[in-house]
Amino acid sequence: MSDLHRPGLENVIASETAISYLDVEKEEIVIRGYDLIELAQKVTYLDIVGLLLDGVLPTLSERRDMEMRIQEAYGLTENIRSIIELLPEQANVMDSLRTGISALASYEPELDDRSQEANDRKAIRLLAKVPQIAAYAYRSKMKQPFIEPDLDLSYSANFLYMITGQIPTQLEEDIFDQSLIVYSEHEMPNSTFAARVIASTQSDLYGALTGAVASLKGTLHGGANEAVMIMLLEAGSEEKLEEHLLSKLRKRERIMGFGHRVYMNKADPRALLMKKALAELAIIKKRPELYNMCVLGEEVMFREKNLHPNLDYYAAPVYYLLGIPIDLFTPVFFAARTVGISAHVIEQHNHNRLFRPRVHYTGPRDLHPTVTESH
Ligand code: CMC
Repeated sequence: MSDLHRPGLENVIASETAISYLDVEKEEIVIRGYDLIELAQKVTYLDIVGLLLDGVLPTLSERRDMEMRIQEAYGLTENIRSIIELLPEQANVMDSLRTGISALASYEPELDDRSQEANDRKAIRLLAKVPQIAAYAYRSKMKQPFIEPDLDLSYSANFLYMITGQIPTQLEEDIFDQSLIVYSEHEMPNSTFAARVIASTQSDLYGALTGAVASLKGTLHGGANEAVMIMLLEAGSEEKLEEHLLSKLRKRERIMGFGHRVYMNKADPRALLMKKALAELAIIKKRPELYNMCVLGEEVMFREKNLHPNLDYYAAPVYYLLGIPIDLFTPVFFAARTVGISAHVIEQHNHNRLFRPRVHYTGPRDLHPTVTESH
């Protein structure tokens, strides 16, 4: 077997990129030269949008201009709304989001223009539409009225408002904005890889994002944040959590929100930031037991499996306390990641090399067809 044989492409360098890099040794997530955690503490999500798409942090006036361009792109046409409404009630919101993004492609005037400028414009339009589709799909499924964007609110506050119908407090807005930043970009996870593979055939940004939604939905990836919350609610209390985890481990089940292909036995820096946010939010919301429960889960998993929590473990209870319905946790993750994936698709289009790997064949050889009555 050759040394090129790496199922799961573990540690394989699949692309050159100037967008981001997980420096596990230094425990740093490098985003265009900056540390993601420092960015999350000092700038807003819209600054990250500028940084990821243009390569440099925007000035205040550039950020305002970008915000206006996003606001101009808000609005879902009747056709898109009808397509989403046609889906059955039990449709998973990620599936509705995938369908919605796919449908948007047919209305995109610059669909096949792969120039950097056109791709930038499309990414901005998607940054307006993706949160709207997610909120619309959920509200339509729950038979709740759709909430139009409030242009007086910041991008993040408005996203939360379109979901919950409540104008968030400053603390809620700041924590949500921080969560969008830590979800915005993370080197080459499965969904970004899927998008780059699709883009490498010269296919379009919408198609690449449609594939990425399908990838991110899985519980080994973005779907983990919903699964974490379901697991915490199933456990019910701090007292019952340890036994709940141990019984799952005895059955060799995976515990959602723990482990990571790249960090392996090191902490995910994003999880630490969301843990701090949860501590703060749990006090304000008078839910200290939820924080204590999560900390206990972390201790049990380290003791039993030497595993650290990943971002999804702490983002889940944070979203829960922000009043976001569980069905929207993964769509929110995808909405935040739309900019990171778009940056990768743009980079792929600008420096393309078709992805076309080989296989290690394990099937039969030298068979010849013969026609028989039965086997
Ligand atoms: N619970 C229990 N055992 C685990 C877990 C877990 N969450 N994660 C890894 N392990 C064990 C695994 O069973 C294996 O043990 P053994 O060698 O005894 O069979 C060992 O750790 C190595 O696991 P692996 O499957 O080789 O690791 P991987 O690199 O394929 O898995 C992972 C990475 C994220 C898929 C995995 O840790 C996992 O399934 N985690 C739970 C799902 C999750 O939280 N996903 C979110 C990932 S981070 C954010 C994102 O991408 O969205």
